[in-house]
Amino acid sequence: MEAILPVEGRRNVLVTSALPYVNNVPHLGNIIGCVLSADAFARYCRLRGHNVLYVCGTDEYGTATETKAMEEGCSPREICDKYHAIHKEVYEWFDISFDIFGRTSSPQQTEVCQSIFLKLLENNWLSEDTMQQLYCNSCERFLADRLVEGYCPTEGCNYDSARGDQCEKCGKLLNSTDLIDPKCKVCGSTPCVRDTDHLFLELPLLKEKLEKYIDEPYVAGSWSQNAVHATNAWLKEGLKPRCITRDLKWGVPVPHEKYKDKVFYVWFDAPIGYISITACYTPEWEKWWKNPENVELYQFMGKDNVPFHTVMFPSTLLGTGENWTLMKTISVTEYLNYESGKFSKTKGIGVFGNDAKATNIPPEVWRYYLLTNRPEASDTLFTWTDLQAKCNNELLNNLGNFINRVLSFIAKPEGTGYGSVIPVSPDLDSHTLTLSLAETVGKLIEQYIDAMDKVRLKQGLKIAMAISSEGNAYLQVSIYSSFYSLMFLLCTISIYALRISEFSKLFNGYAGE
Ligand code: 2FM
Ligand code: ZN
Repeated sequence: MEAILPVEGRRNVLVTSALPYVNNVPHLGNIIGCVLSADAFARYCRLRGHNVLYVCGTDEYGTATETKAMEEGCSPREICDKYHAIHKEVYEWFDISFDIFGRTSSPQQTEVCQSIFLKLLENNWLSEDTMQQLYCNSCERFLADRLVEGYCPTEGCNYDSARGDQCEKCGKLLNSTDLIDPKCKVCGSTPCVRDTDHLFLELPLLKEKLEKYIDEPYVAGSWSQNAVHATNAWLKEGLKPRCITRDLKWGVPVPHEKYKDKVFYVWFDAPIGYISITACYTPEWEKWWKNPENVELYQFMGKDNVPFHTVMFPSTLLGTGENWTLMKTISVTEYLNYESGKFSKTKGIGVFGNDAKATNIPPEVWRYYLLTNRPEASDTLFTWTDLQAKCNNELLNNLGNFINRVLSFIAKPEGTGYGSVIPVSPDLDSHTLTLSLAETVGKLIEQYIDAMDKVRLKQGLKIAMAISSEGNAYLQVSIYSSFYSLMFLLCTISIYALRISEFSKLFNGYAGE
């Protein structure tokens, strides 16, 4: 199949949804949080006749994958292969219309990521610093924060299994070097503190370029409020240099003599995944990614991903000095909670992609429910009773009913229906009821387009359902009015028939006498 490429003079819309981590099965929160939202928007743009490319894939590098591989006793590559296939299957079932669903552990990722890095280096946007990190002598490696456990250093807590990044008991964010009596989670031995050098992206120096970029899409791209807040919070706190390298094996190698045994931090390489996945789709990927004049980039994600897309990634691209397509619109979701708590991958709480499939509820019903319950401005709640209620009261009573009535009218034989032929629309001027329906629907469609263009998907769906309600009301009134005309006709006919029979009785009577 020929690759979709931007066409001059058309609206070229590049849609991405956050690349899901590869180490688990996606749950409903992940699905509405990015892939389904982006899918609804991409479908809308295609229907409007725009030239659309929808790109996504699995985010495969980093500690999380290495840890999962250790847990499952296999290599990171095997974990990625296994879970990439699971993600792909779940999204296929949900009918997500990706143009490509790729992965970040590809040669294209290494190539694009390294070349961006080299440009940053050349342009002097990188600095070096020494950090202290725990090193396990028996595993012969630096330990990522979540691979260390010890006593929580917080006064009054002292929890004995606090993780290097956070204490689950008191919730405090920690540095692994602060843990009391730390232990390597892999082998149980006591790690030591070692110095390790790393490379940092100089965000403070890039701030001016970043602010200049942000100023425009903030307004023109109608960024969602939650995106604006999260970005402002980062900017207000003051940008700090961000470490972009890690002492890990599973990642893109750093092409630098001193750092050649290290890899890039997963949040440095993940957004570059959008570009490299496009490069796997077409060798002409630059037509999408280095074409800001002709391409509009729309990015969908959960709220925890925002600063990486509004600060880190644009700064990285701006720092190269090249003409990249930067994000125009960001659409951010809050959290979808499950019954009374949070969806949790680690605790297995919630509805996961495979569970949804096993219910035998069709994917279209899930899609409707999730979109109508999209956590657009605040968290929303998934409950089984709400799913049932929305399915019965909205999908069935409103949309299902409307479509069923229209189709059965058309299918019924001539006389009572239209003999399976769609009728020519009546002359509206003589049809006040139909004229008023056309006017109402026309206005609703304008509102629908306005909402969808601004990526207010939930509102768009509500308006679409309102069109269906109008259709139902129209049919109801039409049927009643034709029912009453029919009754009137029948009554008149009956009266005449009675009269005739009375007359004939008379006549017959006379005749008989
Ligand atoms: O939060 C996540 O699931 C990340 N894997 C998202 C990455 S988005 C992009 F940058 F790739
Ligand atoms: Zn160890």
